Amino acid sequence: MVLIVVAALLLGVLAGFLILAPRDRKSGHTEKAQSDLNDNKEPKTYNKTEVLLHNKRTDCWIIIKNKVYDITSYVEEHPGGDAILAHAGDDSTEGFFGPQHATRVFDMIEDFYIGDLKH
Ligand SMILES: *[C@@H]1O[C@H](CO)[C@@H](O)[C@H](O)[C@H]1NC(C)=O
Repeated sequence: MVLIVVAALLLGVLAGFLILAPRDRKSGHTEKAQSDLNDNKEPKTYNKTEVLLHNKRTDCWIIIKNKVYDITSYVEEHPGGDAILAHAGDDSTEGFFGPQHATRVFDMIEDFYIGDLKH
C-alpha cells in the first residue's frame, strides 16, 4: 500500500519535470519578447526600502546583483524550501550563487525580473 503511494508520488514528480521542461524553453521566447518591448522604455527601479516591504512568503521580492525579482510564485516550488526566504526583501546575491544552485537557475531567475535597484 505504502509502496503504491510512493510510486505514484515519484510518477507525479517525473510528470512534473516533463511538463516543466518545455515550459522552460518557451519562457526563453517570452523573455526575448519582453526585452523587445522594453527597448524604448527605462526599466522600473525600486529602492531598498520599497523592496524590503516585500519580505513575506506571500509577497516575496529579492535583490540579485542590483536587479529586483518578484519570486512570490516560486517560493512554494523552491527545492531548497524556506532557504529562499532567508533574504526575502533583501539582497540574496550570495545565496543565489551558492553551490546548491545549478547554472540553469541563473536563466530561470530572469522570468521573475521586475526591475532594477535604485542606487
Ligand atoms: C524609496 O521610495 C519610497 C517610495 O517612492 C520613498 O517614500 C522613500 O523615501 C524612498 N527611500 C529612499 C531611501 O530613497
